Amino acid sequence: MLSVINILYLLASVLFILGLVGLAHPKTAVRANRMGALGMLVAIVGTLLDRNVIAAGMNGYMLIAAAMAVGGLIGAALALRIKMTAMPQMVALLNGFGGAASVLVAGAALHDAVNPNLQLLIATAASGVIGAVTFWGSLVAFDKLQEWLLPGKPIHYPLQQPLNVLLGLIALALAVWVVRDPSAMAAYWGLVLVASILGVTLTIPIGGADMPVAIALLNSYSGLAGAATGFVLNNNALIITGSLVGASGIILSQIMCKAMNRSLANVLLGNMGAGSSGGASADETYAGKVKSTSPEEIAMLLETARRVVIVPGYGLAVSQAQHAVRELASLLESKGTTVEYGIHPVAGRMPGHMNVLLAEADVPYDKLKEMDEINPQFGQVDVVLVIGANDVVNPLAITDPSSPIAGMPILEVHHARSVIVMKRSLSPGFAGIPNPLFAADNTLMYFGDGKAAVQALVAAVKEG
Ligand code: TAP
Repeated sequence: MLSVINILYLLASVLFILGLVGLAHPKTAVRANRMGALGMLVAIVGTLLDRNVIAAGMNGYMLIAAAMAVGGLIGAALALRIKMTAMPQMVALLNGFGGAASVLVAGAALHDAVNPNLQLLIATAASGVIGAVTFWGSLVAFDKLQEWLLPGKPIHYPLQQPLNVLLGLIALALAVWVVRDPSAMAAYWGLVLVASILGVTLTIPIGGADMPVAIALLNSYSGLAGAATGFVLNNNALIITGSLVGASGIILSQIMCKAMNRSLANVLLGNMGAGSSGGASADETYAGKVKSTSPEEIAMLLETARRVVIVPGYGLAVSQAQHAVRELASLLESKGTTVEYGIHPVAGRMPGHMNVLLAEADVPYDKLKEMDEINPQFGQVDVVLVIGANDVVNPLAITDPSSPIAGMPILEVHHARSVIVMKRSLSPGFAGIPNPLFAADNTLMYFGDGKAAVQALVAAVKEG
């Protein structure tokens, strides 16, 4: 039976890896997702054949079936109801539950262990620490994004880092105790308690819009906790999948940090904007220089444009303007205009946010141009439509070394012949700084809610 289970686990792992490979491209992503789900099914069947599960008899199977039914129903309901912009919160919760499961499974294994070996003990302590940090860190991440109890902005207090180091040292001491005296369950639960506090204190300094990075990192932790639990249970599927999740989460957080030109430490310590001189105020940047426009005026500009680039941002996601944007693009294309999309890697609030939104509106994937590809071409673009994006097109990233976003690669839309910025006001984006693009000679501001504004523009283009 053991070899059958291991073959099933191997098959599941291969399906997970093929799924991950396929997820790298939109054309194969849906099939890849199904492969991952199939892998999960195979892994569950393997687990149900485990001799410990079989030994629990019918009662054991009934319990598992009931738990799967409840979990499956909650998961399906959440997945169907969740809004695209709330996806980071959903992922945070899923990571958190993974961490909590590791804590509970490792605790139960320690409780039942007779003469536990060193591998089991070290892995149990690791599961307890990483799992508890993941669970509480993820709950804080969820709450900061939802803004139910905690504010989205970073929370700082005196001696924050020394206190975290102290908690880390206490957790380490308790982990040593667990390894040296496995019968002391109090040491294990003490370890879980301290790690839980650490999970909260490590996450509260992180700002709301930086949360996607923290969530990718917590995702990585949940994988590491799962892998550690795999060593507790001697379960190869858990070890392999936990390692895959651990590695992919850390790679994703690094990609996001690179796209913002910030270090992981800067994000985790909630230092967005720390050390910046403040730069010019909004009044100094905008006074007397901002020109606003109307849908009719933009329609006239678009009539003569041969090449148009649409730059989507967070506001497009919030206002759900993707379908209206697609309609506008189709209309312009029917008149012979070339329409492309400039995609910044951290536009919006989660990795791939813009790609997913535009895919939802059936925008052909080859029209989405990555930053490095489109940047050298903005000089030949007639009109750029910036829809609900702000920081990712802010030229201060290039011109002001003291700006909080200094060095962040941006979409250099200011090189285009005309730039239309569509947003509700002159309010700043996540970085909280003014954007000189709005006051540039070649920029016109079109104020309004993203979706309604694009719809009005579609109507104006149709009339014109
Ligand atoms: P932001 O710079 O945050 O700007 C979004 C703009 O959307 C705001 O200025 C807002 O202006 C506008 N907006 C909001 N609701 C709107 C609506 N209903 N209709 C029209 N406009 C609306 O967004 P971005 O340019 O996408 O940049 C993303 C930011 O998040 C960057 O600073 C990035 O570093 C950070 N971040 C992203 C990620 C990922 S993975 N995406 C991870 C960490 C950090 P008004 O209020 O005037 O409308």
